[in-house]
Amino acid sequence: MNDPISQIRAHFPALTVTDNGRPRLYFDTPAGSQVPKMVVERMADYMLSGASNVFGGFASSKKSTEIMIDAHQAIADLFNAQSPEEIILGPNMTALTFMISRFLGHILPDGGDILVTHMDHDANISPWIMMAEEKGLKVNWLGFNRDTYDFDLEALEAALTPETRFVALPSASNITGTICKAVEMTRLIKERLPEAIVYLDTVQHVPHAPLDVQDLGGADFASCSIYKFFGPHQGAIWGKRALLERLTAFDERYSKAPLPKRFELGSQNYEAMAGVSAACDYLAWIGREFAPENDNQYAHMTGRRRDLHKAMAWIQAYERDLSTHLVTGLAALPGIHIVGVSDPAHMDRRLPTVTFTADCALSSADLVRALNDENVFCWHIQHYARDLMTYLGLFEQGGVRVGLAHYHTKDEIDHFLKVLKKIIH
Ligand SMILES: Cc1ncc(COP(=O)(O)O)c(C=O)c1O
Repeated sequence: MNDPISQIRAHFPALTVTDNGRPRLYFDTPAGSQVPKMVVERMADYMLSGASNVFGGFASSKKSTEIMIDAHQAIADLFNAQSPEEIILGPNMTALTFMISRFLGHILPDGGDILVTHMDHDANISPWIMMAEEKGLKVNWLGFNRDTYDFDLEALEAALTPETRFVALPSASNITGTICKAVEMTRLIKERLPEAIVYLDTVQHVPHAPLDVQDLGGADFASCSIYKFFGPHQGAIWGKRALLERLTAFDERYSKAPLPKRFELGSQNYEAMAGVSAACDYLAWIGREFAPENDNQYAHMTGRRRDLHKAMAWIQAYERDLSTHLVTGLAALPGIHIVGVSDPAHMDRRLPTVTFTADCALSSADLVRALNDENVFCWHIQHYARDLMTYLGLFEQGGVRVGLAHYHTKDEIDHFLKVLKKIIH
């Protein structure tokens, strides 16, 4: 019980659930993580001990206000944002991104073009295509290198035009698991086109590594989904203050509201906000408990902010080991093709999220069904990753996606590999 992973696993009741005596392998992590008990308790406590709307003068309302303020501060700490006013919370990343796209459309100049990529989740493509259609902007597409599963800076340079007003980029792929060159790309865009706005989808990156919005090459926005890192179903967007202040919301009255209220329309999900803080507090516990060696690296930060960054660096190192184990184990199985970085020397270029195809009698969809029947929870990748899968020529075939978090173990990976081997042979 003394080793960190056993202590970590003890926080997650879901990890002990069995089905007819069979343990579960929650390898569906890229689609959502499990939740520590303290997160659920904090949410339940909010609901059970007097829930109210915010900004009233009585005890339960004061508590709601405190919860709302701390949830913004918690994500500001996680992102190393300058102020909690730069953090917008809402139902999920997709809805928030659609909302931001409405408001950004109002301030972009008429004419010109935008750039979107073949690697992004649709949440970082469709809102911008709609914005472009409404503004009469041309949509350009950026592909990635099919050998490295990352972008080439030369291709980015070629895709930018003097009229590029806006670029949407992923910092990590939810399918290939690539940690992309998003920072270098953003830097290049800002050097060439200082006025262009860069919107980073950091949803898959945030659960696996420290993210510092001061160090994103000048990006204007970053995003995350708290249910992918041990919290409730909430999304968050960080935006540069100067840019957020230029955006107006739906009507005159809202447009004058202070940040971030201007973008958080109506009553919010305060019970989920209680969980947002608790998820960050859980991660900060990891930083305090297991990552003292990361103290110096984050000496410029204090309190929860520092603990969070220490924790994420610790998680990143542990998960790199898991990635190596998973990727080498998969590569050793005959007929398995990893759709992403598979060189064990380059695990720093990927998340522990692996999509693969298999030369076997089963289709990818049937293979996923067979794995699910063996209590391996994972997803079939096809329709919801249409752009990327089409770009890779894998749309018809589809693929199997498995993904890990810091609570997973090599024993679980070995069990998965054994089950997979049995199914494909
Ligand atoms: C890379 C990426 N971006 C965006 C999203 C959408 O997030 P949400 O469910 O919070 O809208 C997802 C969800 O899986 C994702 O993986």
